[in-house]
Amino acid sequence: MYNLGISCYYHDSAAALLKDGHVIAAVEEERFSRKKFDDGFPHKAIEWCLSYTGIKPEQIDSVAFYDKPILKFERLLDNYIAVAPSGLHSFLDVIPKWIHKRLWIKNDIRKSLKGFTGEIIFPEHHLSHAAHAFFTSPFEESAILTIDGVGEWSTTSFGYAKDNSVKITNDIRWPHSLGLFYSAFTYFLGFKVNEGEYKLMGLSSYGKPKYYDLILDKLIDVKEDGSIHLNMEYFAFTYDKVMTSKKFSKLFEIEPKTKDEETLQIHFDIGASAQKVLEDVILKMVNHIHDKTKMKNLCLGGGVALNGVANYKILSEGPFENIHIPPSPGDAGSAVGAAQYLYYVYHKNSKDYSNSARLIQENVYVGPSYDNDEIKSFLDSNNIKYQSFDTRTLLQKTAHLISDGNVIGWYQGKMEWGPRALGNRSILADPRRLDMKDILNAKIKHRESFRPFAPSIMEEYASEYFEIGVPSPYMLMVAPVKKPKEIPAVTHVDGTGRLQTVSKYTNSLYYDLINEFYKITGVPIIINTSMNVMGEPIVNTPEQAYQMIVKTDMDCIVMGNYMVMK
Ligand SMILES: [Fe+2]
Repeated sequence: MYNLGISCYYHDSAAALLKDGHVIAAVEEERFSRKKFDDGFPHKAIEWCLSYTGIKPEQIDSVAFYDKPILKFERLLDNYIAVAPSGLHSFLDVIPKWIHKRLWIKNDIRKSLKGFTGEIIFPEHHLSHAAHAFFTSPFEESAILTIDGVGEWSTTSFGYAKDNSVKITNDIRWPHSLGLFYSAFTYFLGFKVNEGEYKLMGLSSYGKPKYYDLILDKLIDVKEDGSIHLNMEYFAFTYDKVMTSKKFSKLFEIEPKTKDEETLQIHFDIGASAQKVLEDVILKMVNHIHDKTKMKNLCLGGGVALNGVANYKILSEGPFENIHIPPSPGDAGSAVGAAQYLYYVYHKNSKDYSNSARLIQENVYVGPSYDNDEIKSFLDSNNIKYQSFDTRTLLQKTAHLISDGNVIGWYQGKMEWGPRALGNRSILADPRRLDMKDILNAKIKHRESFRPFAPSIMEEYASEYFEIGVPSPYMLMVAPVKKPKEIPAVTHVDGTGRLQTVSKYTNSLYYDLINEFYKITGVPIIINTSMNVMGEPIVNTPEQAYQMIVKTDMDCIVMGNYMVMK
């Protein structure tokens, strides 16, 4: 049975095709449209899923859209009535988009899938997150927690899942949202909402949580079970395009930071305080959920599950034995989640408890790929000079280049599903060099100086270098580094690192490359950052990959078995 999942019209549009519940193709629209966080209908992503797999629309059994637009629209109208006349400006901007486009999603789907005659279903937003969290996990049963900005009405939900059943038992509703609470600070500290939350997480390590009590006193009421109530006098997102009110600025005695303004200690301290509140609320939530469900496993979903610092807190201080977070817990991931909900829950098919290594492969490496012939043909037709090597030699040469301090583009196999490059569309460098963060920033990334670079580590060495006893295959855990002096370029200012564990089975080529680096240096770790220039999505085609070496000061790019030097 073929099922298609779609998410769009908010941010991060995506499409995913499942065969008998297994992901056979999934990709974000931005990778084709080249518009970062593209929220339009994912025409190109759908087209690629079908052409890559050779499936025709008439072969698709049924389609799932990742939320219920009618309920979302109802919430919007309810909200505008409640805040009137304050929200008029926002109303005039938002409502026409819904009336002319977003409410007609069924038509859009039928139009883009000519020949498809099956059913289209609309699982609730948090059920799509929950399904993606559970059905990518190796667990037979699990408690579920999903936290994001807002779906239809829910902003946080919890429940449990077993075999092909996913049940949400409790939720917190709009406008009381932990995700939007964090997004309000993201906005206030000069980053873009829905995009800059991970920057706030990086920034928070530089501060002290001096405003922790003030936030709990004035902005958010937190109960023992983790339920929250925002004091809406301080937030503006219900009626304005900005997230915080004048009262919020007055409370911290500063105006919202602009993008280009210098980051001061007060910004770091406010960030640290918001991060600590977030972590403490989530810890209360997971303790409560554990009390209620008595389960040993927890699956986390929703955009807030991208917060690797909070995730590590749940792992290290929370009551659950095992935690699973899917590679794409945000809304793009819900294209897969909605299709998984459709196949397992709606069509009542049993969950396949396969080994977790195979699940990791299937959860991540499911995007577009270009083989050696296609890469060679691109290089030849553009008269680009390259060297070609057998795989063993290629790995040895690349590892030597990295250990000599070069910055290498590594373009291999299938593109990753989710926001992180996990060894197939990556830029690689030596983590032992203290100056490598500055080199990477000067040559390619031009990032804010407070943002760390992440390490990929051979899975069997993870606990030797990090305070962690479980794999972190999707780079969603930020753990303390045990040997910071050995790997200064990936050790954050607070002594942590956002690690990706790599095993031979889940990505053998990347694993073998790190192993070659290990043979040379004695360090089983490589810096891994996504292959894109600032403001652009991760590269897709060989042409886009090659442009990396043209547009930046990258030293070398390895595309398939071909090596191109700057
Ligand atoms: Fe969401």
